[in-house]
Amino acid sequence: MPEFSVHVVGTGRAVPERVLTNEDLSRIVQTSDEWITTRTGIKRRHVAADHERNSDFAALACSRALADAGCPAESVDYIFVGTVTGDLIFPSTACLVQARIGAHNAAAWDLSAACSGFLFSLEQATALLRTGRGKRALVVGSELLTRLTNWQDRNTCVLFGDGAGAVLLEARPADGGGVLATFSRSDGRLADLLSAPQGGSAEPPTPAIIEARTNKIQMKGNEVFKYAVRSMGAAAQAVLSEAGVGAEQIKLFIPHQANIRIIEAIATRLGIDAERVYVNIAEYGNTSAASVPIAFDEARRAGRIGPGDHVLMAAFGGGFTWGSALLKL
Ligand SMILES: CC(C)(COP(=O)(O)OP(=O)(O)OC[C@H]1O[C@@H](n2cnc3c(N)ncnc32)[C@H](O)[C@@H]1OP(=O)(O)O)[C@@H](O)C(=O)NCCC(=O)NCCS
Repeated sequence: MPEFSVHVVGTGRAVPERVLTNEDLSRIVQTSDEWITTRTGIKRRHVAADHERNSDFAALACSRALADAGCPAESVDYIFVGTVTGDLIFPSTACLVQARIGAHNAAAWDLSAACSGFLFSLEQATALLRTGRGKRALVVGSELLTRLTNWQDRNTCVLFGDGAGAVLLEARPADGGGVLATFSRSDGRLADLLSAPQGGSAEPPTPAIIEARTNKIQMKGNEVFKYAVRSMGAAAQAVLSEAGVGAEQIKLFIPHQANIRIIEAIATRLGIDAERVYVNIAEYGNTSAASVPIAFDEARRAGRIGPGDHVLMAAFGGGFTWGSALLKL
């Protein structure tokens, strides 16, 4: 057993107030509430106003997690922000959040793993804290994916929303609880299935790129769908096996909220009945790295999970990346 167990001691979330409904979208592209609802499960998504920044929501989610735990910001040793839509190319959004919340004793950095950014960050933070190298870490998933959305492409623009979620982790003398197992994996051969193909340093934005919107999200939805079911299912299975925990012991499964049909297919594969699967996709759509920590905070504050419960999380995203975590709260 490692010297330290890594526990979640606080959670928080923040989403924009502005809401875009399926009806609103049907006035922008050729789509309908019926199509979006039956194919994805999404009804609404929260969209940042022009003046709002990724770091606004990330910082608010962090402040709420700290308040939830009753811990001062100065006691935080690390801040990880999983994001692909940071405020700036650099410095990192994590550094901007650090300044905003006053966590002046922390090291702060961003992690780019698309929708898996929160779970990849959770794995890194857990590994650090387990060694005793630091006591507390804020792990954040925060995205303004609507800034990367092509609002003329009905294949993608109906799917995404904005928001942030955060957890505060704390290292405690080993007690057999906390984060029991984590798993992260990537396959860069699948990069083209889901990407913003231009507008980075390889091909910086030009008027032609902006006109063609090739700096925005492009996706082969069908292929992503199949891969998502396989990879998230396998990731979830990997942490259950590593920890020796059966699916029947899981109090709540919190999957990445990309598509209700993907979620249902994975839950069936794992043998977890619908009552033990957390779903909030109707309200937020796919918020990328923020989806798992937003759902985790909602579930925790609603009393769906509490001390001693086993919680399973899984995500997948562009890269491809996929990961999972098993916690005993
Ligand atoms: C995108 C997704 C919802 C599409 O659902 P689907 O059942 O696979 O639908 P298809 O892509 O086969 O498209 C079926 C038809 O609906 C049309 N369609 C696509 N988007 C539409 C929309 N918003 N409204 C109406 N029709 C739409 C397509 O053009 C296609 O029409 P065609 O048959 O005339 O060509 C689904 O593939 C998906 O969720 N994939 C995973 C995406 C994902 O999770 N990405 C994020 C990863 S983190």
